[in-house]
Amino acid sequence: MLSEIQNVGVIGCGLMGSGIAQVCAQAGYGTVVREVDEGLLEHGVASIHKNLDRALAKGKLTEPDRDAIADRLTATIDLGDLSECDLIIEAIVENREAKHELFSTLDGLCRATAIFASNTSSLSITELAAGTGRGDRFVGLHFFNPVPVMPLVEVVRCGQTSEESFKLALAFASSLGKSPVACRDNTGFIVNRLLVPYMLDAIRAYEQGVGSIADIDTGMRLGCGYPMGPFTLGDFVGLDTLYHITEIMYDEYKDARFAAPSLLRRMFLAGYHGRKTGMGFYDYSDDEPVVSDFVK
Ligand code: 3HC
Repeated sequence: MLSEIQNVGVIGCGLMGSGIAQVCAQAGYGTVVREVDEGLLEHGVASIHKNLDRALAKGKLTEPDRDAIADRLTATIDLGDLSECDLIIEAIVENREAKHELFSTLDGLCRATAIFASNTSSLSITELAAGTGRGDRFVGLHFFNPVPVMPLVEVVRCGQTSEESFKLALAFASSLGKSPVACRDNTGFIVNRLLVPYMLDAIRAYEQGVGSIADIDTGMRLGCGYPMGPFTLGDFVGLDTLYHITEIMYDEYKDARFAAPSLLRRMFLAGYHGRKTGMGFYDYSDDEPVVSDFVK
């Protein structure tokens, strides 16, 4: 735990925000996690408790440790409860306007010394920082799903980020038990710059009849040793998230590699967003996922 940071604010308690809040509390930080409404907040907090209980059942946590982690977590729907935090990590929907509005509100509400971080996977850190009066204290902290398991954090600096803030952000990521990599502010940073075209290519390969969804997944799993094939991974990340990322990356690079294939767009519009909605490339209604009717 870093002495410069006592309390961390996490905004958004969805898939990413709940995981980020969990690892912050586990690392010893007082953690305030905020959602927009009670229903979403309860859902996110319940997933944190479920993860902690699973770790307890596996003997990876003691009961006092589990309770201490839970005690360090404060859940709220009031942004004002983050006013005393030393570091704010934003993990809301991947939408430029929503993030701008949030950071502008936080700028007036938080301590002048607080560092702001965005977990954006594709938006420009430079642009988000420019909407605040604290560009020197603005970084990207990009976590990977599932956050409690994936060891990587991309720590992103933009032109305005001070050396001091960047070093603190790298040290913070390490203090969570993660392995940070340093990135310059470029849409997609390191991982999504390479991963997104790969996932989109898998969809194009399927559209072109190269192989079935299941066979393309099996091919990449068994042929390359990837833990999940590209369609399983797309469903896991969320096809809505993937679609939003492609829009932002295509807008930035104007390169066809980042353009959403029409199948992805149709699935997004139809609400086939992957595991979170129970339907994506696969249908998750039963214990064993099967290829969904939408893509058959
Ligand atoms: N939350 C917390 N812990 C989880 C979890 C979750 N959602 N899912 C699995 N785990 C834990 C399990 O409890 C288990 O813990 P243990 O080792 O202590 O027992 C461990 O992870 C392994 O889980 P399982 O044995 O159930 O399953 P797998 O061995 O198949 O691993 C996986 C699951 C870690 C998700 C693995 O399939 C994997 O690594 N998949 C690829 C994930 C990936 O690529 N993520 C990056 C996505 S891209 C991204 O996030 C960027 C964004 O901007 C798009």
